Amino acid sequence: MRVVLVSGGVISGVGKASSAGLLLKTAGLKVTAIKIDPYLNVDAGTLGPLEHGECFVLADGGESDLDLGNYERYLDIELGRDNNITTGKVYQAVIERERKGDYLGRTVQVVPHIVNQINETITRVAQIPVDGSGEKPDVCIVELGGTVGDLESGPFVEALVQLRHKLTRDPDSAFFNIHVSFVPLIHGEEKTKPTQHAIRQMRSAGLIPDMVACRCDASLDDATISKIASSCQVDLEQVIGVHDMETVYQVPLLLEEQGLLKLLRKGLALDQVSLSPERIANGQRLWDLWKKTIDVPKDFHPVQIALVGKYTSHMDSYLSVVKALEHAAMHCKRKLNLINVDSEHLEEGMKSTDPTKYENAWDVLRKVQGIIVPGGFGHRGIEGMIAAAKFARENKVSYLGICLGLQVAVIEAARDLCGHKNSTSEEFNANAEHKSVIFMPEGSKEVMGGTMRLGTRPTLFQAGTEWSSLRALYGGGQSVDERHRHRYEVNPDFVDDLEEKGFHFVAKDDTGRRMEAFELKDHPFYIGMQAHPEYRSKVTRPSPPFLGLVASSAGVLDKVVQEMTEGTPLINGNGSSQV
Ligand SMILES: *[C@@H]1O[C@H](CO)[C@@H](O)[C@H](O)[C@H]1NC(C)=O
Ligand SMILES: *[C@@H]1O[C@H](CO)[C@@H](O)[C@H](O)[C@H]1NC(C)=O
Ligand SMILES: *[C@@H]1O[C@H](CO)[C@@H](O)[C@H](O)[C@H]1NC(C)=O
Repeated sequence: MRVVLVSGGVISGVGKASSAGLLLKTAGLKVTAIKIDPYLNVDAGTLGPLEHGECFVLADGGESDLDLGNYERYLDIELGRDNNITTGKVYQAVIERERKGDYLGRTVQVVPHIVNQINETITRVAQIPVDGSGEKPDVCIVELGGTVGDLESGPFVEALVQLRHKLTRDPDSAFFNIHVSFVPLIHGEEKTKPTQHAIRQMRSAGLIPDMVACRCDASLDDATISKIASSCQVDLEQVIGVHDMETVYQVPLLLEEQGLLKLLRKGLALDQVSLSPERIANGQRLWDLWKKTIDVPKDFHPVQIALVGKYTSHMDSYLSVVKALEHAAMHCKRKLNLINVDSEHLEEGMKSTDPTKYENAWDVLRKVQGIIVPGGFGHRGIEGMIAAAKFARENKVSYLGICLGLQVAVIEAARDLCGHKNSTSEEFNANAEHKSVIFMPEGSKEVMGGTMRLGTRPTLFQAGTEWSSLRALYGGGQSVDERHRHRYEVNPDFVDDLEEKGFHFVAKDDTGRRMEAFELKDHPFYIGMQAHPEYRSKVTRPSPPFLGLVASSAGVLDKVVQEMTEGTPLINGNGSSQV
């Protein structure tokens, strides 16, 4: 068992941790990740998107925060709800065992019982296969949230100290600790005191830094590096500066340049892992592909996309959508110019309350090449989204509707194409006479938590949809597995009516009663999906519908579709990764 612990606290370590994981992958290793959050919550599903950023849905239906999404995107893996360990989960497990009598009536304590439970969980989760190969990972990245030395993370730190002790004594195991710190620039001077202090705290807790990664504004001075090295008792090459790059995708390159992989090779005794020549070659290919993918020179053509939603002032709520658009733009070699439009500003009522906002919002829609309406809940701003869907349909602007974005386009079509002027969703008006979107029959209206259709579900392309761009983008096969998170669905009673008007439901679920995707024929790109394909988008394998939206907006859809149908499709049916 090989563990890379990423500790820190002052600033998030996720960017560094996933970059380190990527470098290990390029060496041919299989990598997994665990995020430890010292909170009492048991899962992240009930946390609000405004306070907490996006809720990231995992393949097994687990709801997590954006960090696990970051690992999946960088490492091209599929994690599960167990990859997020919280204080709440650990205590719950220990208390359950105590109730069952597993501790034989002995006193149950933080040390050793909680600490052992943490160790057992890490040891178990680190061995779960995550890349579709069914093989155990070689290395597990463990990112410890919270600050070393604070009360909440105490038991986790203790468990990790014990784990380190054990693994460093086992010839087939290893433990490597990256401590992420911050070197502020004050009056032109790089301040090392916070780093010194953090390392001292860490050492007194029993952890030993194998590398100090210093977040900084510009690259670190040599003098700063040697000061940190001598005051923290580490070698010069164990101190790495991580300054802001033009894009986050360049961080792995920066870390590689500074010798991170060399340090990891030595610290994790990677020479002793036997790797087939094929895996080494795959790793090298991945690294080449990464470098090629992220290379988007500044003078590349921009592609302008409007994101019409209701949390546009908190873009973290749409993080996976934004990332999926970035991945797609890199693939098309375009510079993504994403403009956020608050859907409420597009509504008729805005004309009188704030005409400037109204005009500005519509000006954006008139100038962009593509429009995306992402998922969301609640009533606010819905009419604005419907107006955006109508605008895109009538003006042949490329449109991608995700989840709620599919539903608003269906409502729009019911109103405009089928003449049901008052049509709406049951979510917005339970007493509406014409509901084109209804509450899913198997749900419960009383209990909000746990009643959603969550996680991976099949989307089946229907007979006679060979013309569909969406299907072609997915490689032309019959079925794709994407992740879902919804409570409402298209009303099956009105489907025939819509289809008669040319609004084609190209994909349905396995019962045939639940609409999964629509596409218009006489439009360059007008597509909606009930699933959230953004959750499976990867840096080197963009999500097909997002790729389609960006490619169509950039005028290269035909080329991309050809690539997808002739070459290896980016994402195959079961989601296993190729590299
Ligand atoms: C893990 O779960 C906790 C508790 O719900 C949540 O606060 C945290 O954001 C989650 N972290 C990840 C990486 O999903
Ligand atoms: C951690 O748990 C594993 C699996 O149960 C066990 O083999 C190992 O000895 C434990 N390590 C420590 C440090 O307690
Ligand atoms: C739509 O609702 C309005 C106001 O409630 C009503 O006057 C009108 O008759 C309804 N139109 C249709 C087509 O049902």
